[in-house]
Amino acid sequence: MRTETQWQRRTLGSSGTDVGALGFGCWAIGGEWSAPDGSPLGWGVVDDDESVAAIRRALDLGVTFFDTADVYGAGHSERVLGRAIAGRRDEVVVATKWGNLFDGRTRTMDGSDSSPAYARRALVASLRRLGTDRIDLYQLHLGDTPLDEAAELRDACEEFVAEGLIRAYGWSTDDPERAALFAAGEHCAAVQHACNVLEDAPGMLDLSEERGLLSVIRSPLAMGLLAGSGDRSPRADTGDIRSTPPAWLSWFEAGGVPAEHWAKRVEAVREVLTADGRTLAQGALGWLWARSGRTVPIPGFRTVAQAEENAAALTHGPLRHEQVEEIAGLLT
Ligand SMILES: NC(=O)c1ccc[n+]([C@@H]2O[C@H](COP(=O)([O-])OP(=O)(O)OC[C@H]3O[C@@H](n4cnc5c(N)ncnc54)[C@H](OP(=O)(O)O)[C@@H]3O)[C@@H](O)[C@H]2O)c1
Repeated sequence: MRTETQWQRRTLGSSGTDVGALGFGCWAIGGEWSAPDGSPLGWGVVDDDESVAAIRRALDLGVTFFDTADVYGAGHSERVLGRAIAGRRDEVVVATKWGNLFDGRTRTMDGSDSSPAYARRALVASLRRLGTDRIDLYQLHLGDTPLDEAAELRDACEEFVAEGLIRAYGWSTDDPERAALFAAGEHCAAVQHACNVLEDAPGMLDLSEERGLLSVIRSPLAMGLLAGSGDRSPRADTGDIRSTPPAWLSWFEAGGVPAEHWAKRVEAVREVLTADGRTLAQGALGWLWARSGRTVPIPGFRTVAQAEENAAALTHGPLRHEQVEEIAGLLT
């Protein structure tokens, strides 16, 4: 049952679809998958029944926006999400992404394709895996696609909207210039980008404000560092990307140990984030809502307990202005 207060209102562009201030990210629930060299791209073994239960619990608690990608678990995340929302599709806002190539049999990612023809094939495949006739937010997953190719993909997305296959589209990128190019499209409603207490993204947030986009915030918990995953003990699960971090993943060191630089910064702000009876994760989400009224953080999850804790962040709401100021002072 959804009870929404004014600060939580977020709309998906001209589609008018109500998204709410919190979504859930479905990368981890894709289970194990890997790069061609065998290094993990997933978060280790997952229990699909628990994932389905967590999604349904989130829905019951008023979280209706779910972000996935065709490549997560080489198609598995979309299938699990489809299974969880079967019979409740009209309550749910579904976002997925395309651009990476993968082999569902070997569960490996094996390249990318930024052609409009591939975008259409990927869309049809995502609709089938999700068990739906439309995607509410379709996102380009290739963050560094050249601008001329992206302009063609933006036109392709407008065609998909006209055909009723998608409601709106966006780009998952950390580059404001790229996001601005997509934003020129009539039905571009969002940009997905990284942002959290430890790493602000002022350029992207300013762009969202200027262009009326939603900022769908990925890795809002710094991949678990800003939640319960910040202890310094090594991570046993070798199928977890945090155990063998690729170059871009700076939050964790080999073995999944939190990087000392970031762990110290988490400790510096823990007390402010957990004031008012919030958990660390709830405080980190509250910081994002205080940072901009356009943010929709999409924390990842693997259990019903995490879904409940993260959904309960909505009852605490944004941090107060003076808390945000204090955190800024502590992190300078
Ligand atoms: N390029 C892209 O487009 C891109 C890139 C990254 C992410 N994303 C999207 O953004 C979503 C979120 O980002 P993310 O998954 O990278 O990281 P995140 O949301 O920052 O962290 C999620 C992880 O934190 C831990 N966690 C979550 N809630 C918790 C709680 N209440 N207590 C304790 N631990 C908790 C869980 O890991 P453990 O329990 O396993 O420790 C969970 O998998 C993804 O699922 C995906 O949809 C998109």
